[in-house]
Amino acid sequence: MGRYYRLHFKTMVFLAVLQVTIVVLFHSWYICQSSSNYVPPQRKVHVLLLSSWRSGSSFLGQVFSQHPSVFYLMEPAWHVWSKMEQSSARVLRMAVRDLIRSIFQCDFSVMDSYLPENYNMSSLFMWAESRALCAPPACSLTVTNVTQCKNICDAPGLLKVEKACNRYSHVVLKEVRFFELESLYPLLQDPNLDLRIIHLIRDPRAVLRSREVASKALMSDSFIVLEKKSTPFYTVQYQALQEICHSHIRISKRASLKPPPFLKGRYKLIRYEDLTLNPLKEINSLYEFAGLEMTSEIGEWIYKTTHGIGKGTKKQAFQITSRNATLVSQAWRTTLPFSKVKRVQDICKEAMELLGYKTVDSFKEQRNLDIDLLVPKVPHQFSWIPGKAEKKES
Ligand SMILES: *[C@@H]1O[C@H](CO)[C@@H](O)[C@H](O)[C@H]1NC(C)=O
Ligand SMILES: *[C@@H]1O[C@H](CO)[C@@H](O)[C@H](O)[C@H]1NC(C)=O
Ligand SMILES: *[C@@H]1O[C@H](CO)[C@@H](O)[C@H](O)[C@H]1NC(C)=O
Repeated sequence: MGRYYRLHFKTMVFLAVLQVTIVVLFHSWYICQSSSNYVPPQRKVHVLLLSSWRSGSSFLGQVFSQHPSVFYLMEPAWHVWSKMEQSSARVLRMAVRDLIRSIFQCDFSVMDSYLPENYNMSSLFMWAESRALCAPPACSLTVTNVTQCKNICDAPGLLKVEKACNRYSHVVLKEVRFFELESLYPLLQDPNLDLRIIHLIRDPRAVLRSREVASKALMSDSFIVLEKKSTPFYTVQYQALQEICHSHIRISKRASLKPPPFLKGRYKLIRYEDLTLNPLKEINSLYEFAGLEMTSEIGEWIYKTTHGIGKGTKKQAFQITSRNATLVSQAWRTTLPFSKVKRVQDICKEAMELLGYKTVDSFKEQRNLDIDLLVPKVPHQFSWIPGKAEKKES
């Protein structure tokens, strides 16, 4: 009995020690494992870069795409629009909304309706502009430029895209195909999403100049915006621009005057001109809004990109506008005839007033670059309407 008890006691002690050892070993193995692997954060942040054609949104997109925590995709709704060219922006609105909701959650099965058979990663519009798709796990290598990405990183299907998307803490999508905020309300209230909207606008006179340069490419989109095909070529630009200006008013008023509670702190308006005048400061505040940290690499990238330095070198990974930003935002003043400027000002009068773009009354004023046409932004306020501005919530 005594011997049996001793034996039993020894066995018990041994088993207990063994169990503790196993637990400790397993625990340290587990910690080791999880620290060597990437641990996804508790909650993804979803950022919608809401803008319009020729408003600098590709640059803003790159500002996010280059960040190591960001999975970025440019214009996924391009697929919806190009699949249904006979349709209108209003009809396609909900399809676009549901598409971006799925993509924010890294579910790319939604693309199946819009892509050709046997689609590949390269079937996604402007896929190689996404740094995340040009690096593991989407790509077998980390490549340094778009050409190389196109040559090396393509893969069948979109499983690798989903895998990559799941790895990042931030999913950022750029869209020029929203003309109001209301259709996005369900996304703002969706407990599975943490949506933040950055609304990028630009001086409509500069937009017109840029649209004229690219008018052919914009034609089919313009028809969808205008819901008709019978509009004469000459007036399309102005009508599309008018729609865009109206949408800026709609969106910024919706967000600044009595916004619904779920919109508070989730909308940020930025003018392209402010971004180009003071890129580092503005990008810092956009990152803060999106919950991203500024890194020294990103700081360097911004400096080089906005100063046109390092063209063709390895450091300048992706080619985007490295022209003199100030020159670009003022170019309309020296190239557009006053008659066109005046027409844009008439069409977009209310939007320009609301968003802080001063009109010019003569050709002389237009050409005089010493006259600053930008109304300075009041810091920490939602809108620039005197007396109606609200404090930004963080
Ligand atoms: C996808 O890639 C395969 C293999 O390279 C090719 O045969 C196929 O045509 C591609 N699909 C599309 C839709 O381009
Ligand atoms: C892209 O990178 C590859 C490899 O580093 C290089 O050979 C090629 O010249 C680069 N292309 C451009 C357009 O910079
Ligand atoms: C950009 O152009 C403006 C106006 O010509 C000039 O004042 C500025 O120095 C230029 N900046 C760079 C980095 O070239």
